[in-house]
Amino acid sequence: MTNENLKSQIAVVTGGASGIGGEICSQLLASGAQVYSLDLLSSSGKPELENFHLLQCDVTDEISLRESFSIISKQGAITNLFINAGIVPPWSKSADFSRQSWENVLNVNVIGAALTLKYGSVAMKKPGGSIVFTASLNAWKGDSNITSYVASKHALLGIVKSAAIEFGAEGIRVNAVAPGPIATQALKNRLLDRAKGDSLAAEEAYKKLSLTTALQRIATAEEVANLALFLASDKASGVTGQMINVDCGVL
Ligand code: NAI
Repeated sequence: MTNENLKSQIAVVTGGASGIGGEICSQLLASGAQVYSLDLLSSSGKPELENFHLLQCDVTDEISLRESFSIISKQGAITNLFINAGIVPPWSKSADFSRQSWENVLNVNVIGAALTLKYGSVAMKKPGGSIVFTASLNAWKGDSNITSYVASKHALLGIVKSAAIEFGAEGIRVNAVAPGPIATQALKNRLLDRAKGDSLAAEEAYKKLSLTTALQRIATAEEVANLALFLASDKASGVTGQMINVDCGVL
């Protein structure tokens, strides 16, 4: 996104109603862009703003996506697409996983991202548009108990690299941010769930997690959004097909 004429920029963020997506929306709104959040949730808890549009949309549902992008396209070409919606399954050992849980994760994190790319890319500004995916440190690193999630984010990196080659010819850059654990409510809920509702144990797990990073703290959603907006900006005009970590140093 350029720094000129920001009001005419149209940005779309999937999963923009909360967490990392919510922070990406806030920073885009602060820069004056027209921002569309496509989310299962139709409310974000943010004050109503003229340039913030919350469209209820399920990224796994083609009809829902087609309708949302058709509404947005009437306002002009999309300059920035942030493919961010994702889910994390409850912890499960490989021997205990349910097929349904695997399908849910792949459906949202991989098929949902691919469908967003399918319908979103058609509506984009060419040349000059940018697509930024929210991957994860689990796009390069394994983890026990969430194998389906790790597999989904490794697959997402494959989409990023392939899309960068395909859309490069149309002047669209495609990159990804790879957050480590991020201090969102979603992370806190997960730790509480893994501690079976014991809030002291969840807090302890949070502290322990903080100490695993080089900076000895958990990165914030704001720091992820800073990187996402940098990748979307003209300052990153020579960057495509890359995934950049924002995790306070998980090494
Ligand atoms: P979150 O749960 O706060 O936000 C995700 C948003 O996506 C929610 O608003 C949810 O309603 C929406 N969403 C879920 N399924 C959807 C669907 N089918 N259609 C449309 N919207 C849907 O979670 P968070 O943490 O902000 O996650 C955002 C992205 O960041 C995800 O892709 C996640 O995998 C990734 N991530 C998060 C990390 C963390 O520690 N919070 C770490 C690494 C990656």
